[in-house]
Order: sequence, then structure tokens, then C-alpha cells
Amino acid sequence: LNILIAASEVVPFAKSGGLADVAGALPKALRALGHDVRVVMPRYYIVDREKYGLRFMEGGLGVPMGIMGEEWAGVYEGVMSGTDVPVYFIDHEGFFGRGGLYDENGFSYTDNDNRFIFFSRAVMQLAKKLRFHPDVIHANDWHTASIPMMLNVQYAFDDDFAYTGSLLTIHNLQHQGHFYKGAMDILDIGWSHFNADEVEEFDGINLLKGGIVHADAISTVSRRYAQEIRTSEFGWGLERLIDGYSYKLHGILNGVDYDEWSPAHDPFIAETFDTDSMDGKRVCKSALQYAFGLPERDDVPLIGLVGRLVEQKGIELLVHSIHALMHMELQIVLLGAGEKWAEHFFSDIAGRYPEKFRCYIGYRNDLAHQIEAGCDLFLMPSLFEPCGLNQIYSLRYGTLPIVRATGGLDDTIENYANDSTHGTGFKFYDATPNALINTVGWAIYTWYNDPHGFETMQRNAMEKRFDWHHAALEYEALYYRIKAGRRGE
Ligand code: ADP
Ligand code: GLC
Repeated sequence: LNILIAASEVVPFAKSGGLADVAGALPKALRALGHDVRVVMPRYYIVDREKYGLRFMEGGLGVPMGIMGEEWAGVYEGVMSGTDVPVYFIDHEGFFGRGGLYDENGFSYTDNDNRFIFFSRAVMQLAKKLRFHPDVIHANDWHTASIPMMLNVQYAFDDDFAYTGSLLTIHNLQHQGHFYKGAMDILDIGWSHFNADEVEEFDGINLLKGGIVHADAISTVSRRYAQEIRTSEFGWGLERLIDGYSYKLHGILNGVDYDEWSPAHDPFIAETFDTDSMDGKRVCKSALQYAFGLPERDDVPLIGLVGRLVEQKGIELLVHSIHALMHMELQIVLLGAGEKWAEHFFSDIAGRYPEKFRCYIGYRNDLAHQIEAGCDLFLMPSLFEPCGLNQIYSLRYGTLPIVRATGGLDDTIENYANDSTHGTGFKFYDATPNALINTVGWAIYTWYNDPHGFETMQRNAMEKRFDWHHAALEYEALYYRIKAGRRGE
């Protein structure tokens, strides 16, 4: 198959969250299955041209932007490291010559509609220029959700896309790309599409909604989330629309790149380890305690948290639980950045309980690895979680996840069972501080009083695999279905 993947962030070039991990790993797995897969992303100015050996492509692209006229895009070309998968970077100083991806200093760029409509249109123009004839264009989240619309409107009769279909993957339904309706004149699909069954919502435009309607298929990053987004609790207002399209909705669980995330060969951790010898994990624990300035004790359980400090991740549950947790015999390390109030709150807690709680406010990949390796338990109290990657990394490092049973967290973690012969973590269901506190209590009780059971769970966890090969096979099957649909087979 010819597959073109469009994403607003891709590891290792630019990343703000799990979307980048997925967009960096899936193409490699598809390539390994023998497909001609190519990736397109914006050329943010943080993308290091020299480090990745990017070459400038002759000519560039004309990108029609409705009433703005035609904008010119430069194109850089590189490859996904260690593969021959081409990656194209859409360059435009006005739109991408800035410090951030979507925002800076906590403020979203006010022209994100133009920036990502431009990017989406550039993806289409690039496919034309390359004469790539994709069987499927795979768009991700609201940033590229205009692509299925453009394919069905501006390019509907274009020979270069005669048999091209589209897949839209929803990594997070909370962010839909709501903008002032004036962006219709840039999107340029015609005002007849500005209606409640397509791209209009509350007299503005909703790009994700338009993408959901126009894509040949839609997918979420776990099975459970595909069910959840059809309900009002998780649908962010689109539940009825999505429910109506459930015949084309699929759930494909993300994989994990075990080249990056494995305690057996992780260059960031103090000492490597694996199921056959866990001594290294103890070394990692004391190194982590040392790095965070906690007492280096092996007789107390250490709990880690890594993630964006935003509502989705359940930080308010944690805020309301933290004093109760600080009365337990445990230590907590937190790595994260996000909402300013939360950054201040957790820094303050570290000041009050320096023997028990430490945090690093910021983004640090090496520390994320060290937390996975050095902790006994990993906490993810998310209110919703389309997939979640950190809990899957934790499993591989024998760091038992304590999770709220939602979305991908529910799909990937098996709850502790009393005989402790199975189970890979500890789950709670209610989004309440009490449920969180009780479950943490239950987990550390197990750590203290049933060390053998805890070790059995660690082994169970470390033996689980969520590899990309498996996920890529599911995407492949879906791409073939989309292709057959477009060809009327
Ligand atoms: P989301 O995409 O919603 O943020 P995921 O669990 O899917 O959640 O992915 C988060 C990714 O970002 C993981 O790879 C995680 O290690 C990384 N990450 C998040 N915050 C930080 C941080 N402060 N420092 C380092 N890595 C982080
Ligand atoms: C989103 C979700 C996260 C998921 C990631 C990758 O950022 O919040 O749960 O793992 O996308 O699909």
C-alpha cells in the first residue's frame, strides 16, 4: 500500500505528547510490513535541520488558501532514523517560524486555524507533487482533520487522488479545533459545508467534526475509548455524531517502541535489569532517590508520576488526595509541566514534605526513563485516557501502575487479584479522591505485606508486550478496507 501519514508532531523531531510517539513508531512498523509509507509534519523551527540531515527539496509547493490567495511552502526531506521511511517537513516562516508547536508561555497561537489548515492543504499538494497516489492518507487529531474534507471536496475529481481514501485517528477528543467561522474562507470547501451535519458547531467551525464526517474511517487509540466517546461523559459534545458513525469507528491500541523503552538496554538508567536479574532496579531506585534529594531508603515504596499537568490527567484528584497520601509510609516523585497553578501547587507540596514528595517541573526525557526504572509503583489517575503510554512503559520496567479504569488504562492493565498470581496493576473506578487514596493504600499494603505477590505481579507486568507490529497489522487491515471501499470492491 501507499500510505501517507500526516501529523502535527513526530518523534524524534518534535514532541509534546503521545501523538508524537505514535507518529514516530507506526510508520516504521508499517514499513517493516513492506508498505511504501511516508510521513509529513510541519517544520517548526525547533526541528534541527543539521542534526537530522534534512535536505531542501527543489521548487517547494504552492498552497491555495482561499481568500488569502496562494501561499508558498518550502519542503525539507529526511528519513525516520534507522529506516528508509521518508519524512517531509512543510516549511513556512510565517506559520512555523516560532518557539512552540501550538502555544507559547501558556497561550495558544491565535492563528492555529490558518496554520493547520495551511499544513493540511500542503500535505495534499505535496502528495500531488510527489505523484505518490496514496491509497490512504492517515490524518491525526484536529490539526490534520481538514484533510478528509479537502480530499472529498477540492480533490474529489483530481486524478492524483482517484482512489485515495482517508483515516482519521482521534488521539484526544477534548481538542477539536474550534475556530471562528471566518476560517471557512481559508479552508475553502465552500459555505454549503457550513452546516450542523458537517463542519459547523455553535456558529463556528469544528475541524475535528468535519474530519469525522468526511473520513472513510475513524479510529481511536484504544478499544475502550472507541466505546467511551459515544457517551456524553467522554464525547465532548460530539457523542451523538460519533455514535451515528459507529459503523466506521475502530479502536486500535497503540504499541510501544521497546527499542526506546526497555530496562534491558536503556541508556538513561543507572543500571540495566530484566526479569532474570532485578538487582539493577534497586540501584535505579536509590539513584532516583538521590537525584530527587529523597532519603535513599529501600524499605519504603516509591511512586512515580510523569505527564502533562492538565485536567485530563486527574491532577485535581491528586491535589485533593495529596495530604492523605503524605500521611502514608511512601515516597512520591513527579515529573511534569502544564497548568501554572498545578506547577506551583506541587512545588509547594515538595517544600512541605521534603522527605516524601519531590517534583521536577519541566520536560525531561532522561528523567522520565529514570522514573520508570526506579519506582515501585506508577500513578495515573486520569479522568479520561484515550490510550496512555506511560502505564505501558511502566509495565516493562516492573513498575506497577495504579490507574483509574478508563480508556487505554483499562484496556492495558489487569487488576490485582487476591491470590496475586495474576494482575499487573491496581485499578480504581470512581473519579474521587477517596478511591485514589484507598487504591494507593491497597498497593503499598501489598508492597509491604506481600512482597512475593508483588514480585509475581512485576514479572507478569514485565512479560507483557504491546508491540507495534501487532498494532500495525490492525492498521493494515483497516487501510485495505478503506482502499476496497474507495474502489467500490
Ligand atoms: P499524552 O499524549 O496525553 O500526554 P501519553 O501517556 O500518551 O499521554 O504520552 C505522554 C508521553 O509524553 C510519554 O512518552 C511521556 O513519557 C512523555 N512526557 C509527558 N510529560 C513529560 C515530561 N514532563 N517530561 C518528559 N516526558 C514527558
Ligand atoms: C493523546 C492521548 C493519550 C494517547 C496519545 C497517543 O495524547 O491523551 O492517551 O496515548 O494521544 O495516541
